[in-house]
Amino acid sequence: MPNAQTTLLEIRGLAKSFPGVKALQGVDFTVRRGEVHALMGENGAGKSTLIKVLTGVYPRDSGTVRLDGAEINAASPKAAEALGISTVYQEVNLIPHLSVAENICLGRSITRFGLISWRAMARRAEAALARVDLKLDVNQPVSSCSIAIQQMIAIARALDVSGKLLILDEPTSSLDEKEVEELFTVIRKLRAEGLGIVIVTHFMDQVYAISDRITVLRDGQLVGEYETAKLPRTELVSKMIGKELSLVPTIPYDDGAAHARPEPLVELKNYGRAGSVTGMNLTIGKGEVVGLAGLLGSGRTETARLIFGIDKAQTGEMLLDGKPTQFGSPRQAIRAGFAFTPENRKVDGIIPRLSIRENIILALQARQGALKTLSRKEQEELAEKYIKLIGISTPGAEQLVVNLSGGNQQKVLLARWLATQPRLLILDEPTRGIDVGAKAEILKLVQSLREQGMSILFISSELEEVARDSQRVVVLRDRAKVGELSGKQVTEENIMHTIAGHAK
Ligand SMILES: Nc1ncnc2c1ncn2[C@@H]1O[C@H](COP(=O)(O)OP(=O)(O)O)[C@@H](O)[C@H]1O
Ligand SMILES: [Mg+2]
Repeated sequence: MPNAQTTLLEIRGLAKSFPGVKALQGVDFTVRRGEVHALMGENGAGKSTLIKVLTGVYPRDSGTVRLDGAEINAASPKAAEALGISTVYQEVNLIPHLSVAENICLGRSITRFGLISWRAMARRAEAALARVDLKLDVNQPVSSCSIAIQQMIAIARALDVSGKLLILDEPTSSLDEKEVEELFTVIRKLRAEGLGIVIVTHFMDQVYAISDRITVLRDGQLVGEYETAKLPRTELVSKMIGKELSLVPTIPYDDGAAHARPEPLVELKNYGRAGSVTGMNLTIGKGEVVGLAGLLGSGRTETARLIFGIDKAQTGEMLLDGKPTQFGSPRQAIRAGFAFTPENRKVDGIIPRLSIRENIILALQARQGALKTLSRKEQEELAEKYIKLIGISTPGAEQLVVNLSGGNQQKVLLARWLATQPRLLILDEPTRGIDVGAKAEILKLVQSLREQGMSILFISSELEEVARDSQRVVVLRDRAKVGELSGKQVTEENIMHTIAGHAK
């Protein structure tokens, strides 16, 4: 390996904020020549921002970037390419109706005596493709190539433009197994040539198959840099989600037979949607809390949206009380007794400029339809009842929701749905961003609702909560169900192992 183990890229203290978000805070990142470096982190961790700041898509707020020891500050992707850094994004950014050769030479038309030389372009394109072991007719339009080939063309183009650091941001999302293997063969060859390669991917197996080192980001901050071979998968997951694995030994799996399943309320059979979640089986029993666990972006919210009729399933079916049911809209789901408190209460849920009373009656009013308006007295009684039941601290029902704490806003949202007396309550991150006391109260409420026979689908990033409060846990990874734990199997550690993708 030429120049192996010498530093190629050295980023120090990189910071970038967007209005209201610190996307990167003082991040260090080092890539060596002749290595594949995986950049890992949950959705929103800052991976794409780091790449975009490095490649001049966004200006940085502070920090230094050195390439080959010299300080650089690329003002645009084109400037970054000129310095030797090029990026291939998930959405292949080629121009479909132009030929393969034109795409590879895009922006650098090769001229002879002031005229475009098609033959020289074709030769250059063929040479570039040879580097990725690809031989094809460079005069055909890019649109006639498969996505996998297009990706290779994009890489060939990137290498042709500049050849020090190649960045691949989720390159494998739409490739099948064989295509991924072909891509990896090319990546290994480029690594042997001494290139630095940065790869962003959600697929654990791929990280372990291809990378030499791993840098983990979380909430815009550097968690650490590790040698892939020395970092067990479960530890990688625990670093990504920011939760240390307890050293308590796992309770051995039992066969689950001891746990008589309650009568099912909702059954999903191969229920899924392209671009959302892969068809999955999932049963929610009457009076059962089913936890939905997985990394951010694993498909938890998407599953909830399918069940609630916000997105429509394209495969499989849903049974409600044993009968095939397909909701055309959330309104139909509400009529059938479903309730959904969404993850982002500021955007999807609470209406800050309305009173507690007005916020609480919204869902019930929607279910009853415009013809049967709740009287003011009915509204007041409902509001009072739930303020008391859930313990919303407020001087009264007419208080504007904007004036409440986060925990109390969450409770108002919960009250809105409880007022509809749902059969299935879907809670998406009900405890995010609220204080410990309010958290405990909400979890207590979930248990008492379950005891009253309500079915609950409980989505939370806090694995501890999921493990403690669910009878069963369904684990998602890369937008597909990868496991299910029940009874004594439901431990934080088992959930983490399932997320990481290897059984104990
Ligand atoms: N152009 C933008 N404007 C505002 N906020 C952004 C923008 N790009 C990213 N963010 C925010 O910055 C954070 C990091 O995002 P991103 O770098 O895309 O994460 P990742 O690629 O790890 O999923 C997120 O909170 C995201 O919402
Ligand atoms: Mg990203």
